[in-house]
This record gives sequence, C-alpha cells and structure tokens, in this order.
Amino acid sequence: MALTLWIFLAFKVLGASSEVRQFFLQQASGQDCQTLQLGESWISHSIFECQLQCIKRYSENCQAVVYNNQTGNCRPGSIAFGPIEKVITSIPETGSSDKLYYVRQPIPPCNTSNNFALYDVCGTSACLYLSTSRAEDYNDARTLCNQMNSRLFVGNSMVKFSLFWYTTKIYMNVTTYIGLQDIDVENSFVWGNGESLSSDQAEYIWITYQPDNYRGDQDCAITQHENWPSKFGLDDAPCNISIYYVCERCDGC
Ligand SMILES: *[C@@H]1O[C@H](CO)[C@@H](O)[C@H](O)[C@H]1NC(C)=O
Ligand SMILES: *[C@@H]1O[C@H](CO)[C@@H](O)[C@H](O)[C@H]1NC(C)=O
Ligand SMILES: *[C@@H]1O[C@H](CO)[C@@H](O)[C@H](O)[C@H]1NC(C)=O
Ligand SMILES: *[C@@H]1O[C@H](CO)[C@@H](O)[C@H](O)[C@H]1NC(C)=O
Repeated sequence: MALTLWIFLAFKVLGASSEVRQFFLQQASGQDCQTLQLGESWISHSIFECQLQCIKRYSENCQAVVYNNQTGNCRPGSIAFGPIEKVITSIPETGSSDKLYYVRQPIPPCNTSNNFALYDVCGTSACLYLSTSRAEDYNDARTLCNQMNSRLFVGNSMVKFSLFWYTTKIYMNVTTYIGLQDIDVENSFVWGNGESLSSDQAEYIWITYQPDNYRGDQDCAITQHENWPSKFGLDDAPCNISIYYVCERCDGC
C-alpha cells in the first residue's frame, strides 16, 4: 500500500517536473555508473522518498540519486556517467555500499538503416554505427559517416564521452577515430560539429602525457583499446592511419 502510493507519487511528481522526459527508475549495476553530487545529502526512509526530495529541491537538475538503504543517506546527483579516471569527486566511491539510481534520459529517435542502433551507457542513449571495417583515414571516416546521413561521433560532454568510451570498449575494443582533430591549428582541438574542445573536458579525456603531437604529425584523436587496454582516455595519432570509426545520428547531424 505504502509502496504503491510512493510509486504513484513518484511518477506524478516526476511527470510534472518535465514533460519531455521518459522516467524509468533504473538501478545501475555494480559500481559502473557514477554521478556528481549536486548538494548536501539528507536522510530519506526509502529510495522513492529520496528521489522525490531530490526532484523537489533540484527539479530537472536532479538526474540521479545515490541512496544507502542501511543508513537512509540520500545524495542528489546530476546525469550518470561511466567511471572516468580523472574525475575524482564522483559518487558512489569505489567499494562503497551506496547505490546509484538514475532517471533515464529521453531515448532519442534512431533510424536503424545502415545498421545504426541505440547504445546506452548509464541511462544516456545515442544512435550509433560501430564500423566493422577500417576507414582509409580520418577524412574517409568522416565521409563514410556523412554518406550514411550521420557524423563522426562528437563527444562534447562528459556523458557523451563516457558513452563513446564504454561503447567502443565493450562492443569494439579496437583503435577508432572520434570526431576530434587539430589539423588547422596545432593543439586547438575541434569537435566534428565545429565546437572547440573545452579546457574542462581536455582535463579528463586524454591519456596522461597525451596529446603530444609526436613527430609533429599527430592531429587526430583516437582510442587505443587494442594497444593499451587498461588505460583510460584518448591518444593523438596521424590522421592517415587506417582504423575503425563510430558514426552518430542525431537531430542536426
Ligand atoms: C538493501 O541493500 C542491500 C545491499 O545492497 C540489499 O541486499 C538489500 O536487499 C536491500 N534492502 C532493501 C530493503 O532494499
Ligand atoms: C532512414 O535513413 C535512410 C538513410 O539515410 C533514409 O533513406 C530513410 O528515408 C530514413 N528513414 C526515415 C523513416 O527517416
Ligand atoms: C580488449 O582487447 C585487449 C587486447 O587485445 C584485451 O586485453 C582486453 O581484455 C579486451 N577488453 C575487452 C573489454 O574485451
Ligand atoms: C602518413 O603520412 C606520413 C607523413 O606524410 C607518412 O610518412 C606515412 O607513411 C603515412 N602513413 C600511412 C599509413 O599512410
């Protein structure tokens, strides 16, 4: 009875907070997904109460909660993302008994022609094509994506980057291009949509000591899952190597 009421209230309040979002309360598995804490924690008697309070206090900025069902400690969180090595302020901490619950983001439409499909990491989804053969070079990868009415993946937020990282690691595990290069101006990296790589993002997307523009001709960002399986982050490489790639379809791509 009490539980039913909470579920009802939860959906009512969640529904009212945003008309566009689809809410499915999903429990993330293990310690895979993390979030950034939005503010002070408090005690709630259930995960539903924790969720309701979070929405009440932070409205649409509350996109995840970290709840401990032993202590009742409830921590409000932003969008969930896969563990990112250089983000050290995220919760739950490794080994903690706290659990992350997230509110699923809107599932984008996905035209599945040309073998595109929806991939989901920590509640964020994208419509992707994971190549099954190598492009000749960076420009070829870009052209191949464009020909399929899509673009080379643009990872211009923490959430999108973690989605790209874990999708390529789990489903491809090979060296791939991402839509990020500094061909025009050395060390001014630009995403495939023309946006500059922000200094905030530059802090966590690269492997330590990279990019180094080794031999002066490394202008394209790549994953190194094959060669460096335990390292997290991108490397810079020449734009003429023949490797795999990932295309995304989205509004305005
Ligand atoms: C509380 O969490 C523990 C460990 O995560 C789990 O085994 C248990 O079933 C949970 N209890 C309730 C009431 O949800
Ligand atoms: C899906 O994409 C293909 C290839 O780009 C296009 O030909 C087709 O019209 C699209 N279908 C829909 C329903 O938009
Ligand atoms: C990816 O490939 C590397 C090297 O071949 C291997 O060591 C690693 O276990 C693989 N990772 C996954 C997630 O399959
Ligand atoms: C890429 O270009 C460099 C410099 O122009 C050249 O030395 C190298 O052989 C090329 N590599 C490939 C794989 O074509």
